[in-house]
Amino acid sequence: MAEKIEVTICVNGVDQTRSVEPRTHLIDFIRDELGIKTVRSGCEHGVCGSCTVRLNGDIVRGCLVLALQADGQEVETIDGASDRGDLLELQAAFHAHNALQCGFCTSGMLLTASSLLSEKPDASRAEVREYMSGNYCRCTGYQSIVDAICEVLENRRVTASPEHSLGDTL
Ligand code: FES
Ligand code: FES
Repeated sequence: MAEKIEVTICVNGVDQTRSVEPRTHLIDFIRDELGIKTVRSGCEHGVCGSCTVRLNGDIVRGCLVLALQADGQEVETIDGASDRGDLLELQAAFHAHNALQCGFCTSGMLLTASSLLSEKPDASRAEVREYMSGNYCRCTGYQSIVDAICEVLENRRVTASPEHSLGDTL
């Protein structure tokens, strides 16, 4: 067994110090060391997006980042983002559009969607599909997820510019 190394990662605003093997991935640090199970382990190969978390504000795949790489950094999971109210619009839209069933993908979907809202406020429906294409869902068929995200985008545009015509995105 490899020698363990002490790392301190600020997770959802709280410094967490653990001794881990150098090969430990961030997702395993979060799930196994901290017991935060809302970060899902799907493919473990960087494909499905279920392990999405924020690292210093940017979304990353927890299965592709080593805990050592996050030493001294700030990590936020769906729990922290949700508690801050950061995702309220998206959560309401997902609920209204039935954009989740089993919920396995949902934490990753919401964090990725929130990143989209920040980076691409003028995204078209096609661009939403493209942006979200790295997050897999086994249940919904994606339509309702894209509907929910487009609705939030549209609502924000209307709020920012009331003359913006409804339906530009939808
Ligand atoms: S578990 Fe990380 S991308 Fe699938
Ligand atoms: S809601 Fe089941 S995997 Fe997306």
